[in-house]
Amino acid sequence: MQIKTAVFVKSSSEHQHAPPPALPEYAFIGRSNVGKSSLINALTGRNSLAKTSVQPGKTQLINHFLINDEWFLVDLPGYGYAKVSQTEREKWRKMIDNYLFERPNLLCTFVLVDSRIEPQKTDLEFMEKLGTNGLPFCVVFTKTDKLTKTKLASQVAAYQQKMGETWAELPQMFVTSSVDKTGCDALLSQIVEWIPTFQKP
Ligand code: GTP
Ligand code: MG
Repeated sequence: MQIKTAVFVKSSSEHQHAPPPALPEYAFIGRSNVGKSSLINALTGRNSLAKTSVQPGKTQLINHFLINDEWFLVDLPGYGYAKVSQTEREKWRKMIDNYLFERPNLLCTFVLVDSRIEPQKTDLEFMEKLGTNGLPFCVVFTKTDKLTKTKLASQVAAYQQKMGETWAELPQMFVTSSVDKTGCDALLSQIVEWIPTFQKP
């Protein structure tokens, strides 16, 4: 898909303040620093559309970007960031959960996981929560430019094996890098494919 326009629309602290749910929407979520904002920039080809940082905890609100006047990409704060206070973490958790559970136009959530590390409890629990609430999601491996092909294949296999212990059917998985743009076309193709399934709430 060609990205003709990618425009920041709004940052919201609560889902009720987000843009009207009149268009299909895709959310990017994952632990702090996993590369959510960077991947949004890589997908759209706009280097500074979403704010990125070497410091975890950069994205703190629900950020809506309008793509081709046709669909929304949503950049969310990271979950499970240990360095913010318990109160702050709880506030983000509620913000994210309320958004995910109450957003009627959300077609799919992309759960980003760092390809360099083994399956993490926080990520697996988060996916479990999506699954048990019937929310569709895909797994997106990030920062794959930092791994050899062999190592990447074994990391993905480890994830599939771990998820296979609890899931009857594995979610779709994407291997990506914001640096060399691996997987961006595949991700965009999937996004485009699902757009026609959208039914106005
Ligand atoms: P929060 O908003 O803090 O939750 O983080 P985030 O998940 O949005 O991560 P962000 O995109 O800000 O990236 C975090 C750091 O990882 C930055 O220093 C990025 O440059 C780096 N990074 C992100 N994606 C990639 C990637 O594909 N490859 C490499 N090598 N570095 C990446
Ligand atoms: Mg971010």
